[in-house]
Amino acid sequence: MRLLGLAVVVVLVGFGTSVAEAETIYLTATRLLDPVLGREVDYPAIVIDSGKVTAIGTVSSLPAPDGARHIDLGAQTILPGLIDMHVHLTSRADTHGFKGLLVTPAAAGISGVANARVTLLAGFTTVRNVGASDYADVALRESIENGETIGPKLFVSGPLIGATGGHCDRNLLPFEYHLVSEGVADGPEAMRHKVREVHKYGADLIKLCATGGVLSKGDSVGAQQLTLAEMTAAVDEAHMLGLKVAAHAHGTSGIKDALRAGVDTIEHASLADDEAFALARQKGAAFSMDIYNDDFILGEGAKFGMLPESLEKERQVGRLQRETFRRAVKAGVFMIFGTDAGVYPHGDNARQFAKMVEWGMTPMQAIQAATVNAAKMLGPLGDDRGSLAPGKSADIIAVTADPLADIRTLENVAFVMRQGVVYKADGASVFPR
Ligand code: ARG
Repeated sequence: MRLLGLAVVVVLVGFGTSVAEAETIYLTATRLLDPVLGREVDYPAIVIDSGKVTAIGTVSSLPAPDGARHIDLGAQTILPGLIDMHVHLTSRADTHGFKGLLVTPAAAGISGVANARVTLLAGFTTVRNVGASDYADVALRESIENGETIGPKLFVSGPLIGATGGHCDRNLLPFEYHLVSEGVADGPEAMRHKVREVHKYGADLIKLCATGGVLSKGDSVGAQQLTLAEMTAAVDEAHMLGLKVAAHAHGTSGIKDALRAGVDTIEHASLADDEAFALARQKGAAFSMDIYNDDFILGEGAKFGMLPESLEKERQVGRLQRETFRRAVKAGVFMIFGTDAGVYPHGDNARQFAKMVEWGMTPMQAIQAATVNAAKMLGPLGDDRGSLAPGKSADIIAVTADPLADIRTLENVAFVMRQGVVYKADGASVFPR
């Protein structure tokens, strides 16, 4: 009966639109997890109109409006749609190291379409894509926006900006091939220019590579790769343009200089120390720590082409990153949920929740990182998401168990709605495309 009702939505949506038509939906369930209040509410009721939440209360306080279509999720628990602040939708988990050289721009774009769909159906209704070649992320964002393909709301960085030979350059081929990434910039003025260029071609935010990385060839994971002056110029320019800045940073000095330069989020943050925690708090910056990643890299990385030197770097940094996570949570650093999906399979984003709980967060804190906290670090772009209240986008998911009792229930989301359109119900995709 319930599925039959949902099928009506699908018909109404039709081709070429991703916002629900002017139909009123009355959504009820047994429980709602409110990440703003930090507690659960019994028998919630939500009214949705034209893709937005218009009222929220309980079944007894908020009756169904006249003519509304009632979707009752039975015993399920409702949450705001999840937000992953660090993904690479145009990357594949089975294509690392030298295999990456065979990926054409068209192939990356096609992967992006497939991965956007998988990510949405996993309950992630918003993602920040922090690094893609050929502005494939901008094209993907527009395709989803136009209703041509389905996916989460995307905020994208375009190419990663970093130093010659650094983590975000392409270092696999010898000099005679002259392979250089689109985001390479050296010196403060070049950084400023690159930020302007990336903005010109449609980025919503800026991604800098402050230190070496695990998956890059020929660098040391802890080494700083951009100077304070370079990052200050980039951040100054980005903020002038109204763009937030995310900095890839594993190493201690690079994390701290990125924070001094005023970046908004530190990605990875593996070797952050107490001074870095204090700087982050003082500056209002957040940490986005991909602490599930290590399991996949050490378990599966070799067969998908990861270089031996990368696996060695992961062995150096993986465990330390998790210990840093625990200390950062204790120190009160503002934490957001970022997975680096694309390094590992898209759709498995929610596996990180259990790691976050294992390494020191309460289930509520882990969920807040992926909802309210993430939305806050999107700045004005996040104003209409991350929680459920009148005026917010009707981005809503539901799970079959209580996530506070069993965080892993988030790995199998049963219901997904984005902008009032139902894409999944009772664990099955209900969208025809
Ligand atoms: N993209 C990141 C890098 O290459 C992945 C780091 C994964 N390792 C980790 N422990 N989080 O540096």
